[in-house]
Amino acid sequence: FYGPVISPESLTSYKALPNCLLSVGPSGTIDWLVEDVEEHALQKTLAQKGCIDVNVTVLPSGRFLLPGFIDTHTHAPQLPNIGSGQQYELLDWLSNVTFPTEAKFSDLEFARRTYESVVRRILDCGTTTCCYYGTLHLEATKALADIVHISGQRAFIGKCNMDRNCPEYYVEPSVEVSLRETRELISHIRSQSSRGSPEQVSGSLSPDLVQPVLTPRFAVSCTPELLSSLGELASSDPSLLIQTHISENKAEIAFVKELFSEAPHYAGVYESFGLLRHNTILAHAVHLEDAEVELIAERKTGISHCPTSNFNLSSGVAPVGRFLDRGIKVGLGTDVSGGFSPSILNTIQNASIASKILAMQAGPQGSSPTGFANRQLSVATLLYLATLGGAEVCGLEKVVGSFAPGKSFDALIIDARNNCGNPGLWYPDHDIAGNSKPTLDGLLERFLFCGDDRNISRVYVQGRFIGAPGHPGRSLSFT
Ligand code: GUN
Ligand code: FE
Repeated sequence: FYGPVISPESLTSYKALPNCLLSVGPSGTIDWLVEDVEEHALQKTLAQKGCIDVNVTVLPSGRFLLPGFIDTHTHAPQLPNIGSGQQYELLDWLSNVTFPTEAKFSDLEFARRTYESVVRRILDCGTTTCCYYGTLHLEATKALADIVHISGQRAFIGKCNMDRNCPEYYVEPSVEVSLRETRELISHIRSQSSRGSPEQVSGSLSPDLVQPVLTPRFAVSCTPELLSSLGELASSDPSLLIQTHISENKAEIAFVKELFSEAPHYAGVYESFGLLRHNTILAHAVHLEDAEVELIAERKTGISHCPTSNFNLSSGVAPVGRFLDRGIKVGLGTDVSGGFSPSILNTIQNASIASKILAMQAGPQGSSPTGFANRQLSVATLLYLATLGGAEVCGLEKVVGSFAPGKSFDALIIDARNNCGNPGLWYPDHDIAGNSKPTLDGLLERFLFCGDDRNISRVYVQGRFIGAPGHPGRSLSFT
């Protein structure tokens, strides 16, 4: 690829390289990149790199490469509910909206049909790595894993464990069944990965893109016996990712205190069952006590920030800046359908607004002079959370999240041209600074705040071109 490339570097910086030359090998891994190559020196640089007769995709003006988005928390069976039920807070929303819909996935045909369009929709949003919750159903969740596997998306997939405080039509019958089916899903996904991708990358064996994740739904819906068994399973399998919800809503927190009165706090419940570790993803973390933040930092546990959902279900505003100051890993989560958009772009926009609310409430005196707490998140930080931060949260920071030699090419080609088909990204002939040609930084900011999937021309995972959303009729020919 030759052209503009944007890649996050740290929580406060990213590289914007207008003339980058980036080489992807046959296995979908980035071989090398040269940050600044003038157009006239392109052939010479390729020759120096020993590249003869290679296919170079030259990005036309207004386009740039960006690492794929990482959604660290979403519910695949809730996409059918998107945009409904916003009148409820969490516990009523679960009873009235979510559980009835999830229960329908006992019908395997319905599950297959729904999941096919769900995965396509999420890929079209530019999500190249996704942490999925399924339902409690084994067969439907296997189908989700199969569909994701065939799509070529990188993902973690879990079957919900939930054996109490759920309606009788949607609850696991026993700890034994919950454990047996969880183990079966894990082996299904692992054997599926070792069989390789149906469409191999240039003949070489595809790496394991789809992985299982242990998914106790949340403390409210799990008996101590279930959490204890899941903790044992986790300790026998240290590399297994774990995902759950924490401290999202005040009524939920009060309920957890009632159910686990001996625990010092919500995080202490997961801790006591061995479920709080470096590869656990905690979604929401809106109302954590100081001691919980300390414990989470000590355990090196990651947090999935889900601001769209936190606004939509009136849960609150998570103090993400505080977590970042404490060195906690943070990624973004759409949390569909608590969140009403499957796009990480929408999550980025709401993460920005969430941080501005905290900054406004704290005022200049209450904002951290040096760190992130109570300050608005910058474009660099938002980009980081959506990519490399998410990769850290799911243990993939050496594999994806930015462009570097040895990393997988999980990438998006962004089309941020004027009149690119998204009227939201339209701008007058001159940009706000009066320049006729927006800078690469300007294009990035505009895309993050006004873009949508119409601006995502191509989606690559492990070098494989697996999606080309955008409005119908638009065909880009790269030469
Ligand atoms: N807590 C337990 N289950 C859920 C869920 O499905 N969505 C959200 N947002 N919170 C939860
Ligand atoms: Fe959730």
